[in-house]
Amino acid sequence: MRVVLGTDGPQLELTPPQRPPGEHSVRVCIELAGLCRSDLKEIAGDRHGVSQFGHEVVGMVEESTLAALPPGQRVSLDPNVPVTRGTGFATTMWAAGSADRLTAALPVVPHGIDARKLVFTEPVACVRHCLSAVTRHLGRELAVLRLAVLGAGTAGVLIAGLAHATGARVAIGNRSADRTSFLRERRIVDAPIGPLAELPSASVDVAVVATSFVPPEVLREALRVILPGGLVLLYGGTAPGDALAGLDCDLDTVRRTEIAVTADWHGKPVRVGGSYGTAPEDFGVAVRTLTDLDSSVLPVERMITREVRLADLPQVLREQVIGRPLGKTLVWP
Ligand SMILES: NC(=O)c1ccc[n+]([C@@H]2O[C@H](COP(=O)([O-])OP(=O)(O)OC[C@H]3O[C@@H](n4cnc5c(N)ncnc54)[C@H](OP(=O)(O)O)[C@@H]3O)[C@@H](O)[C@H]2O)c1
Repeated sequence: MRVVLGTDGPQLELTPPQRPPGEHSVRVCIELAGLCRSDLKEIAGDRHGVSQFGHEVVGMVEESTLAALPPGQRVSLDPNVPVTRGTGFATTMWAAGSADRLTAALPVVPHGIDARKLVFTEPVACVRHCLSAVTRHLGRELAVLRLAVLGAGTAGVLIAGLAHATGARVAIGNRSADRTSFLRERRIVDAPIGPLAELPSASVDVAVVATSFVPPEVLREALRVILPGGLVLLYGGTAPGDALAGLDCDLDTVRRTEIAVTADWHGKPVRVGGSYGTAPEDFGVAVRTLTDLDSSVLPVERMITREVRLADLPQVLREQVIGRPLGKTLVWP
């Protein structure tokens, strides 16, 4: 059983997935999947780039042509490695490609850790990658930085939580009060959180834009809150051609190629940099983060608001694409 994205939206398919052609192949029994904002963007037709529908997974190898990924091995998924694969919203998922790519696409994760925690491996790997990009673009260690995170969805909360755990001074700004209340009530973030407009001007070294997209009004807020010479890190979605009047910067290229450029914002020198996807080492770091960090520091399980059966997922996706889901939805095959 699997949920595929067709022209009529998400559909339940009962036929078993076929092994795709490729030099090597691995069949993964999916233990648990997480719903990502990008899945909803794909359904809405708002996401650019190769499909990554159903990519937050933890599962067990059932069949494999690769010695490095034998049956019984527990794995996650790096959706940015180009292999041929089916959706992870499934009871089983095939992935095929070269040995190198398959081993990179299916990072090994340990047994004996709750799947409800390990399902956050890919989002945490992306966030680790983002925080490495901050250090690289600014040439300064995270622990000495003041950070503002704009957007307090799953991404923003993880970025803020991990930066805070590293010693950075963090403040979070979010547009809507219901999400802010939700995060406070569940004690999900241990950093000051309030409206975007209340983040003080010229007060931080880095502003991470972690909203669903990077709209002009949020980017202007990010440029306002950084100190002269500070960095705006683009993490939320961008599309080809995205630009902000008055800022000489190709936003989509900066984000997807993970470069940093120097620009001028109304007389203030600024840097604009990007973070996109992950590097192989981010997955090992993510697993260690999830297993080693005290759950009061990174309370991923408190972010889980809904757990649904795979058979119910098409309906849940249709509701969420037009609704306002707070927290993380998990899918049990
Ligand atoms: N760079 C990467 O490698 C990478 C990896 C994973 C995800 N991402 C990106 O991160 C984005 C956020 O993911 P998520 O899981 O955190 O999504 P989410 O849980 O749906 O949260 C979305 C956040 O964006 C805010 N937002 C949306 N539109 C806004 C607007 N016009 N103005 C101000 N705030 C706005 C929302 O605020 P409200 O409370 O006001 O709605 C919310 O805080 C994704 O869309 C994806 O593009 C990037």
